[in-house]
Amino acid sequence: MPKIVLTDVTKRWDSFYAVDHLDLTIEDCSFVTLLGPSGCGKTTTLRMIAGLETPTSGCIEIGDRVVFDSEKGINVPANKRKIGFLFQNYALWPNMTVYQNIAFGLKNLKTMTKAQIDARVAEVSKLVKIEPFMNRYPAELSGGQQQRVAIARTLAPEPQVIFMDEPLSNLDAKLRLEMRSELQRLHLTTGRTFVYVTHDQMEAMTLASKICLIENGLLQQYDAPLTVYNYPNNLFVADFVGNPSINFVDAEGEQAADGAMNLRILGDHEATLSFKEPLKIEDWREALKKKHEDREAVLAERRKQKKHVEKGNKDTVFKYPVAYVDDVPADDRPVTDRDYVLGIRPEFVKIVEEGGIEGEIYGAMPTGMETTIRVRIGNFLLTGVVFGGVTYAIGEKIRLAFEGTNIMLFDKASGDLVGVGSAEIR
Ligand SMILES: Nc1ncnc2c1ncn2[C@@H]1O[C@H](COP(=O)(O)OP(=O)(O)O)[C@@H](O)[C@H]1O
Ligand SMILES: [Mg+2]
Repeated sequence: MPKIVLTDVTKRWDSFYAVDHLDLTIEDCSFVTLLGPSGCGKTTTLRMIAGLETPTSGCIEIGDRVVFDSEKGINVPANKRKIGFLFQNYALWPNMTVYQNIAFGLKNLKTMTKAQIDARVAEVSKLVKIEPFMNRYPAELSGGQQQRVAIARTLAPEPQVIFMDEPLSNLDAKLRLEMRSELQRLHLTTGRTFVYVTHDQMEAMTLASKICLIENGLLQQYDAPLTVYNYPNNLFVADFVGNPSINFVDAEGEQAADGAMNLRILGDHEATLSFKEPLKIEDWREALKKKHEDREAVLAERRKQKKHVEKGNKDTVFKYPVAYVDDVPADDRPVTDRDYVLGIRPEFVKIVEEGGIEGEIYGAMPTGMETTIRVRIGNFLLTGVVFGGVTYAIGEKIRLAFEGTNIMLFDKASGDLVGVGSAEIR
């Protein structure tokens, strides 16, 4: 099976950059999800690799073959790229049986005998467990069974790479969960490369060997799901993955001689963040400055080129949400090097007997397995998850602390992750 390499691939319509200078390597046999909010460029990326959309510039290789190169004028047509496609609206042919639906593409190939086609249909039907239904029509199948037929139809011609664009979005929640685990199994048994588009972070987290998170056409992070979850590159990524969403807490302060960050948070509380990996803030700021200069140099270089078109859909620093009880006026104080944002996943908000910060239960939603709580501290609201069947009364006074070594510190001005560590309330 081949690996797929995108080099500096751009797709724009006039000054709108749907995909902005994307470099991406999809490893052989991997399960990569393209994740991001609606309109960020996921489908466009997939369609360009498949040959259904022509990039404005860049180069795409599948295996050792260049299928697109804007400089060299190479553009291999879609039907020669050996890619199987499963779309969001996977319409089956209503007047054909399950067998006929799956066999249709194989007959079109005109390279297989009837016996070979029969064998192949039987094989893929077994894989997705629809053998008992071969003579039924789509209308006689449940949603999940129809979905399986669509998958079998995609697998039948033995594509090297299988692309799926939100294939489960038409299914109900329970079935979606079931199909997710089937897709995971299918990925293992077929040994193919899967590229899967979704706007659902949970789907991306559970399925992928690697998540490619995109925003406004720009790659934000390309890593294994747990890396994305625990070490998000920036505030946008931290906010996009995780359910319930991460808590963002404004923090102000500096690094002490011992390396810990002394921060003022949630009004007048003092916290100390000790980095998991030793880190000097000065060095980090130096590296950030270099990164911005390099980026500016790249942009300046691009602007010199004759064909350059300025990006109309400008990139902005993500406006991270902070939850308040009562709305507060916008803070227009200039951001300095003393301004940070703490990122605290709900599972690290811990109710403690003593110490910590005093708060009040503002909301409590038990599901049986866990309870999602909202805690009020002054005008601030934090979300926590407590495991087990615990009940809390609204208005109950509690004390709260931050657990573990994965509390995140972001630089407020750039939105970039500085580091992670443990946070102690002083
Ligand atoms: N043919 C087109 N002409 C102009 N803009 C387009 C066209 N196709 C897509 N776009 C725009 O490009 C952006 C990315 O689209 P798409 O890749 O479909 O997003 P998604 O991440 O939701 O799959 C969207 O803002 C969309 O409106
Ligand atoms: Mg799409």
